[in-house]
Amino acid sequence: MNATPATAPAAEIEVAAPRAGVAATGHVASGEVLDLSHNVILYLDSITVSFDGFKALNDLSLAIDVGELRCIIGPNGAGKTTLMDVVTGKTRPDSGSAFFGQTMDLTRMTEPQIAHAGIGRKFQKPTVFENHTVFENMELAMKADKRVRRALFARLSDDDLDHIAAVLMQIRLDRYANRSAGLLSHGQKQWLEIGMLLMQEPRLLLLDEPVAGMTDEETERTAELFVSLAGKHSLVVVEHDMSFVEALGSPVTVLCDGSVLAEGSLAEVQEDPRVIEVYLGR
Ligand SMILES: Nc1ncnc2c1ncn2[C@@H]1O[C@H](COP(=O)(O)OP(=O)(O)OP(=O)(O)O)[C@@H](O)[C@H]1O
Ligand SMILES: [Mg+2]
Repeated sequence: MNATPATAPAAEIEVAAPRAGVAATGHVASGEVLDLSHNVILYLDSITVSFDGFKALNDLSLAIDVGELRCIIGPNGAGKTTLMDVVTGKTRPDSGSAFFGQTMDLTRMTEPQIAHAGIGRKFQKPTVFENHTVFENMELAMKADKRVRRALFARLSDDDLDHIAAVLMQIRLDRYANRSAGLLSHGQKQWLEIGMLLMQEPRLLLLDEPVAGMTDEETERTAELFVSLAGKHSLVVVEHDMSFVEALGSPVTVLCDGSVLAEGSLAEVQEDPRVIEVYLGR
């Protein structure tokens, strides 16, 4: 049975979408569990990715702690999206290592295995099911969760309903549960897609330019949401909007030419002459 309604757009919700040619179960080899014993959820060491000889990532190293909220900034073409592609298994590095927790080698896992292991990704464009209500979108996201493998026609349990209600509150869409998703504002669609990701309870969330196209108020609400999600989840947020980055108040990593140029608080990196030259000063 196909989990996608006929009217739905191609879902880009990595955690939910089974890929052609890959075993639908997406189980991680040997049923490995996430080992967070060293408090590091993501560890990238000396990653290089070349496209026709051009190094989109060049000896990049980065570590994200459990529960951490981290912003990644940098000029266009710095390699920010490519970094997310490596973490989600979409792009294989030419060299270097990428680990989820202590033991899961991301360079040896398929995209569905990585999603199944607990890494959720939000792309820039919202991809909700426009002809379904907000609640139905949440329900579909829950039922598409391969870790649970509910039948689509099965009724939701009270726990499921509580979970959906709690996430709808978190993303400020509790009052819109019965509204068709197509009628939401751009920002609300983005929140809904984040909510759908949250239904899968990812340990690590990757968000690429989440506030692009949002109003100032939606941007502020999104910052509050991400701050509230940190701790329970780890978040890596790529953004160009400096007022949003400031509102997050998180450590910032500056990428340039495929490598880490600087790391620190936003105030610290904003004073770094190298950062000013390549990015902020322009
Ligand atoms: N599949 C690909 N084939 C060839 N070149 C690529 C590919 N993907 C990315 N690149 C190149 O790698 C570099 C890094 O791209 P990437 O999309 O990671 O940058 P970015 O930091 O996300 O930029 P932006 O802020 O504009 O989104 C760019 O020069 C881009 O043109
Ligand atoms: Mg990008």
